[in-house]
Amino acid sequence: MANGGLLILLPLLLLMDFITAQMPGFVSLDCGGKENFTDITGLNWTPDSSIIEGETANITVSNELREQYTTVRYFPADDRKYCYTLNVVTRTRYLVRATFLYGNFDNNNVYPKFDISIGPTHWNTIVISDANTMESQELIFLATEPTISICLSNATTGQPFISTLELRQFNGSLYMTEFENHYFLSVSARINFGSDSDAPVRYPDDPYDRIWQSDSVKKANYLVDVAPGTEKISTTLPIDVSNGERPPEKVMQTAVVGRNGSLTYRLNLDGFPAFGWAFTYFAEIEDLAPSAVRKFRLVLPGAPELSKPVVNIQENAQGKYRVYEPGYYNVSFPFVLSFRFGKTSDSTEGPLLNAMEINKYLRRTDGSLDAPLIAALTSRYTTANWAQEGGDPCLPVPRSWISCSSDPQPRITSIKLSNMNLTGGIPSELTKLNGLVKLFLDGNSLNGPIPDFSGCPDLETIHLENNQLSGELPSSLANLPNLKELYLQNNLLSGTVPSRLLDKGLTLNYTGNNNLHAYSNSGNHKNIIIGVSVGAAILLIATIVSWMLMKKGKKQQAKKGRLELGLPSQKHVSSFGDAAADAAHCFTLSELEEATKNFERKVGSGGFGVVYYGKLNDGKEIAVKVLTNNSFQGKREFSNEVSLLSRIHHRNLVQFFGYCQEDGKSILVYEFIHKGTLKEHLHGPLIRERGINWIKRLEIAEDAAKGIEYLHTGCVPSIIHRDLKPSNVLLDKNMRAKVSDFGLSKLAVDGASHVSSIVRGTVGYLDPEYYISQQLTEKSDVYSFGVILLELISGQEAISNVNFGVNCRNIVQWAKLHIESGNIQGIIDPALRNGYDIQSMWKIAEKALICVQPHGSMRPSISEVIKDIQDALSIEKGAEAAREGSSDDVSKHSLHSPTNLGLLDLGMSDHCLSIDESISRPSAR
Ligand SMILES: *[C@@H]1O[C@H](CO)[C@@H](O)[C@H](O)[C@H]1NC(C)=O
Ligand SMILES: *[C@@H]1O[C@H](CO)[C@@H](O)[C@H](O)[C@H]1NC(C)=O
Ligand SMILES: *[C@@H]1O[C@H](CO)[C@@H](O)[C@H](O)[C@H]1NC(C)=O
Ligand SMILES: *[C@@H]1O[C@H](CO)[C@@H](O)[C@H](O)[C@H]1NC(C)=O
Ligand SMILES: *[C@@H]1O[C@H](CO)[C@@H](O)[C@H](O)[C@H]1NC(C)=O
Ligand SMILES: *[C@@H]1O[C@H](CO)[C@@H](O)[C@H](O)[C@H]1NC(C)=O
Ligand SMILES: *[C@@H]1O[C@H](CO)[C@@H](O)[C@H](O)[C@H]1NC(C)=O
Repeated sequence: MANGGLLILLPLLLLMDFITAQMPGFVSLDCGGKENFTDITGLNWTPDSSIIEGETANITVSNELREQYTTVRYFPADDRKYCYTLNVVTRTRYLVRATFLYGNFDNNNVYPKFDISIGPTHWNTIVISDANTMESQELIFLATEPTISICLSNATTGQPFISTLELRQFNGSLYMTEFENHYFLSVSARINFGSDSDAPVRYPDDPYDRIWQSDSVKKANYLVDVAPGTEKISTTLPIDVSNGERPPEKVMQTAVVGRNGSLTYRLNLDGFPAFGWAFTYFAEIEDLAPSAVRKFRLVLPGAPELSKPVVNIQENAQGKYRVYEPGYYNVSFPFVLSFRFGKTSDSTEGPLLNAMEINKYLRRTDGSLDAPLIAALTSRYTTANWAQEGGDPCLPVPRSWISCSSDPQPRITSIKLSNMNLTGGIPSELTKLNGLVKLFLDGNSLNGPIPDFSGCPDLETIHLENNQLSGELPSSLANLPNLKELYLQNNLLSGTVPSRLLDKGLTLNYTGNNNLHAYSNSGNHKNIIIGVSVGAAILLIATIVSWMLMKKGKKQQAKKGRLELGLPSQKHVSSFGDAAADAAHCFTLSELEEATKNFERKVGSGGFGVVYYGKLNDGKEIAVKVLTNNSFQGKREFSNEVSLLSRIHHRNLVQFFGYCQEDGKSILVYEFIHKGTLKEHLHGPLIRERGINWIKRLEIAEDAAKGIEYLHTGCVPSIIHRDLKPSNVLLDKNMRAKVSDFGLSKLAVDGASHVSSIVRGTVGYLDPEYYISQQLTEKSDVYSFGVILLELISGQEAISNVNFGVNCRNIVQWAKLHIESGNIQGIIDPALRNGYDIQSMWKIAEKALICVQPHGSMRPSISEVIKDIQDALSIEKGAEAAREGSSDDVSKHSLHSPTNLGLLDLGMSDHCLSIDESISRPSAR
């Protein structure tokens, strides 16, 4: 069944792919249409027949000849809803437009009235008042889920119908508001002023296919009370529209000017009074004398506070022929809006207006609580009609086979799937609907045992008759406190009916199950058999469980073993030592010379010194750091500091083994980490071969953050790393991350001069606040960690002269610009291909931006960051299962590829701190 379902679904998916391929993010459904076609504007229309059921009709309307308006799809006037479900990209904004041209399609001349909803939210009531006039509804929304459903329901008169359904994707931060997670923007007015024709401006003039109505259209109560002296002007010169909502150039090339000093209008706002989003679009398109000044104010009766700001287009837009877009994100308007733009007393010119847009905030209704369970259930029956109904299970009206409670966030109370040809076992989702009262599954071909319904304590009626259910009756049925009716006839059930069930006094019919018998008091024999079989079952279960536990234990052991490979056990560490756990082990120089074969193999170098590979007599591999900085001379301080280091043990910190100070040399000895630095893996030459996938990057981030958290919170006094960067994050054999070089900056600085205020760090990672104030806090590490997160997202280095565009050398500025405008795609590492979930990506991107806030007090603690990384990981792990097999898993290569040189890079090698870079950073945005 499932396989057959997939096969049948395939053409549908292909079709949807085809739709999105022609114009990214555009879907144009010709409802009731028969064929694909491209209209004169270049939009590709597709029939809706493959994604919805329902009747179609042809209509003829003399004033509307466009092909998409020659057909409609219509639905029965019943209490169901009829839904279109469309794929969208989450975290992306869209315009959805539905149009309705009645055209007397049903030869009834009864003007229909019905509701349209988006997901669980009631969108509007469609009222047809003229057979030949098109009704249109538009909504702007942020996609929060991978699909949206647009549904018609509640036919009050006539039959619900639809002419077109259009989806237009926005990019960048267009129509971003801080309310978008809880509100839609319902479009009320979008006016192109000064237009010389009645025709609206839309695609292709508007690449997003918004419809800009001409102000010359004569519509009842639309743009009346126009002030005398209002004049249309236009230009053919190009206009820079690359700002804000990017109004089309064609709209901005026309305007009205109030030659007498005022522009006035009155218009009706559908859906108001309400709170709305209202913006005006201005561009100076007149040739003004050098001495001329155009300054004006908006005047709204009864809203003096909105009348204060003065518009000076040329100044505000910083030039002529450029868009200036002032407005209000949240303003309260009446149904009839009268407004005036009036020139200020010192202005020589009257006001000018190119366009305006007013959208109403429409509260998003919370979906019903059981929606995810129903989604899981219906995904098993992709070909069945009942499973394709779409929309929220309960809202605004329930699906045909569902009843719901009347709570604001309803629960499902009844499921009616009688005679629906269901096969397989009883779907487990049904046993989790905890408000369920009635369940009808009779007359199907369900097989297997009756599941445990303890998750549905309110169940009163269960219809399971006329299926092929087998096995014994679960005793849990008797525990359902409200069970009144249980129908089991004509199945293949066996065993005995539990006496407690019989004693409950419910309506119980189990005829037609040849092997199912009532419990009988005299039937000792049966009892014994049951006893034996139950006993055997318990034994069997116990055996299985203990076997599974054993297996699991082994697995865990194996896992542990893997994780600890290459990690010295505590025993080993102290075996270097003078038993006193606190003191650092002091190696002799000759010991280290032997281990490194006279410093033969150099595996890294950086600002602090050169790193050599070594192997101790007991076989332990070590990294030997010979410090070059003469600031390590003070022997006492040096050994004090290193003894501090030797107390730090954490699985995400590189283990410090000991030191050596002889012959004027200062040497630190660490565990050797095999897979090199994160920097190499992100930016190194072998990246293609060893590229790490997103989930691995998240794990690395989590590991590194945990190491830092330990430094900040697990050590007394707490340790600030001061120099976090990808070259200080090392990867072990299992690609788990360990932070290195902690404590060294302090050592170097304090040992040198006792002036602790010398700024240390690496350009690109250095906290700008620390740089300016010289006050070091844990939040400086958080800043650097934020930069690392941005590198993990983008695969870019922190500083680049070429990759971030003009005037931008810094990953923070670059990423911030993209993330804040909603364009996260613009920064995601192409090497990740599609192997990530956009939600987890957003979570990390947003956190990274908070980490790099200019002020430490605004940054989170590293512990808070860990929580978000873990959330992102769990999102990602959920999504990964879904992706399995569809994309190539890059990390597999990295896990199995031959090991590169182990490397301890002390950083600072190719970056030096120069004043201009660090100073410019905090203010640049
Ligand atoms: C529309 O065009 C696509 C791609 O060419 C095709 O797969 C689909 O079958 C067409 N639909 C109709 C109804 O012609
Ligand atoms: C609509 O018109 C087409 C041809 O123009 C015809 O094939 C089709 O049967 C008509 N549909 C209805 C419902 O009348
Ligand atoms: C159906 O529409 C009518 C009027 O248009 C309205 O009063 C009623 O509440 C609606 N019913 C539902 C279930 O939305
Ligand atoms: C999307 O945005 C970019 C700039 O962010 C712009 O260049 C591009 O033209 C936009 N795409 C469309 C279809 O408008
Ligand atoms: C507008 O200006 C014109 C010419 O300057 C003038 O004739 C007319 O009376 C003015 N109208 C108003 C309402 O001020
Ligand atoms: C169940 O299957 C039969 C035979 O294939 C079919 O006639 C009937 O319409 C199906 N019922 C449903 C509800 O799908
Ligand atoms: C039990 O179900 C059978 C078959 O559906 C029916 O014939 C019989 O009348 C039912 N018995 C009771 C007591 O309802």
